[in-house]
Amino acid sequence: MAIIAVVSNKGGTGKTTLAMSLAAGLLRNDSLMLIDADPQQSAYQWRLVGEDRPGLPPVVAVAHGLESTVKALSDSHQHLIIDCPPSIKSEQSARALRLADIALVPVQPSPMDLWATAPIARVIAELRAENPHLRGFIVMSQIEPRTTLSRLMPEAVAELDLPVASSMLRRRSIHRLCALEGRTIFQSGRRGADAVAEIEQLIEEIFRP
Ligand SMILES: Nc1ncnc2c1ncn2[C@@H]1O[C@H](COP(=O)(O)OP(=O)(O)O)[C@@H](O)[C@H]1O
Ligand SMILES: [Mg+2]
Repeated sequence: MAIIAVVSNKGGTGKTTLAMSLAAGLLRNDSLMLIDADPQQSAYQWRLVGEDRPGLPPVVAVAHGLESTVKALSDSHQHLIIDCPPSIKSEQSARALRLADIALVPVQPSPMDLWATAPIARVIAELRAENPHLRGFIVMSQIEPRTTLSRLMPEAVAELDLPVASSMLRRRSIHRLCALEGRTIFQSGRRGADAVAEIEQLIEEIFRP
């Protein structure tokens, strides 16, 4: 059983999108629950939009009692993915990180996002002193290979005190379309193929190293 916290210190980095696609990818082989711990409840909304669509990951929204929810679900699910609010200072993010085996930190190619990520790297480093099993990874998100900022990203994130996943997620409109239509990139045929390949690579790297 693995508990995966998706955290960042800003909104719009791609946490929910990563949580949704990761959940959809892992669900093909494993049982899981996506726990929406963000009061904005974007993942939960997405699930409601796709209510009638089979194969969407199950989502539960949790405002209080993250620990008891995780405890109640842990025996019956192989993975619990916790989508966190956009701040490391939020109590939900802190709780999720304390519970997690894996912390994924999406970072967009922007200096503001990089600056905001440094405190998360420090928090994860501190938590690792208590919980050496916690593995944290920066996931480069919404990359546009032709832009200067995106090209500089690998060098910039290497400065942060956290391992960087070599698999990255490019900016692809299919992610937004899937959110709008309540489906997953895995249910998008050829249009989703490149996005699927990126998530599969990330799953291989992080879950089957
Ligand atoms: N890889 C991507 N390609 C294109 N759009 C993306 C990607 N990741 C996220 N988005 C879009 O960017 C916006 C913010 O993403 P979201 O996952 O909601 O971020 P967060 O949960 O960190 O606030 C949403 O409109 C989402 O659809
Ligand atoms: Mg979100």
